[in-house]
Amino acid sequence: MIPVTMRAMQIDQPGPPAGLTFKRVPVPKPGEGQVLLQVAYVGMNPLDAMARAGIVNFLPMTWPFVPGLEKTGIVAAAGPGVDPALVGKRVIARLGFGGYADYAVSQADLLIELDPRIDLKTGCVYRGCTFTAWHGLHKAGRLQNGETVLIHSAAGAIGIMATQVAKTAGCKVIGLAGGRAKIAFAKPFGADVLIDYTAPGWDAKVKDATGGRGCDVILDGNGGPNAEKNVDLTAPLGRIVYIGATAGGYPATPPVPTLIFKNISIAGMNVGPIEDPPGSATDLAIIDAVANGSWKVPISETVELEHAADLHARLEARKVMGRAVVKVGGDLGA
Ligand SMILES: NC(=O)c1ccc[n+]([C@@H]2O[C@H](COP(=O)([O-])OP(=O)(O)OC[C@H]3O[C@@H](n4cnc5c(N)ncnc54)[C@H](OP(=O)(O)O)[C@@H]3O)[C@@H](O)[C@H]2O)c1
Repeated sequence: MIPVTMRAMQIDQPGPPAGLTFKRVPVPKPGEGQVLLQVAYVGMNPLDAMARAGIVNFLPMTWPFVPGLEKTGIVAAAGPGVDPALVGKRVIARLGFGGYADYAVSQADLLIELDPRIDLKTGCVYRGCTFTAWHGLHKAGRLQNGETVLIHSAAGAIGIMATQVAKTAGCKVIGLAGGRAKIAFAKPFGADVLIDYTAPGWDAKVKDATGGRGCDVILDGNGGPNAEKNVDLTAPLGRIVYIGATAGGYPATPPVPTLIFKNISIAGMNVGPIEDPPGSATDLAIIDAVANGSWKVPISETVELEHAADLHARLEARKVMGRAVVKVGGDLGA
């Protein structure tokens, strides 16, 4: 039985984490082509914080705003035009906010049924970060066996999945992380070298770790001032792949003559349009690597829904490692 009202963490206008308030609000109704999802868990994606702050707006959102992008749950009701057989399925609901609430509306065509071997908590995290890491390295970065990869924010969710993807591809991984605690967190995931890039001279250490040659592929979801070093740290015929700018802002694009004389390429990657579709060989191989435990999903902590504002504040203070998860309904008996 679907209730009339529900719990939600909501913010009225763009602003800091403290604006997120625990409220009772009406349960939304699914429209044409939509389902109502009973939310289980939500991964703490940096886009939730950026959307809450009003910094990004490329995904559909309305105010008052309920964050919660990477979510799993159980389909509770099907809207008009949606197959009622979806009701009761364990799913990942992608590319829409609203997960910080007991119920959320999702487009039915954006649902992915969760593999039966993967639990609802792991399910809300693994897909975004693993698919981004795999496509960033293999499709945009054209990673080859035996190459050396530099990963910015190697203790973040994508950084940790990228480390494992690159090791599986037979590569040497140099990871950068902000401080000793993050290095300790990242270590068990297999990077060959981990460097604290809050300390001066980190770029010289990267060069040393490559015998002065530089890195074949650099995966950078951070941007910010450290990204200015990427060109110098790239080996001949190397590729720099930008996927985001959590640290704020992208570096200036180098002049073409610099690319020519250094023999390097710079790419951007947006995983959605280039992702191999559900059911493809890549899709099944990635799910299998997670489900059989070959690639470990870095869930660092689980917080209750009412503590989501504090989690946003800690993410913005760079105190969160791997992926934190917000528990909404929990395992829902599934
Ligand atoms: N292009 C795509 O298709 C795609 C898809 C998904 C995500 N992304 C992007 O990939 C990037 C990484 O995502 P993720 O899920 O791995 O994020 P995450 O787990 O939150 O990790 C982000 C890392 O960024 C670093 N950081 C630097 N400045 C920060 C700041 N001001 N606030 C918070 N963290 C900061 C932190 O590590 P240190 O402190 O160690 O530096 C943190 O661990 C993001 O830019 C995201 O938007 C891109």
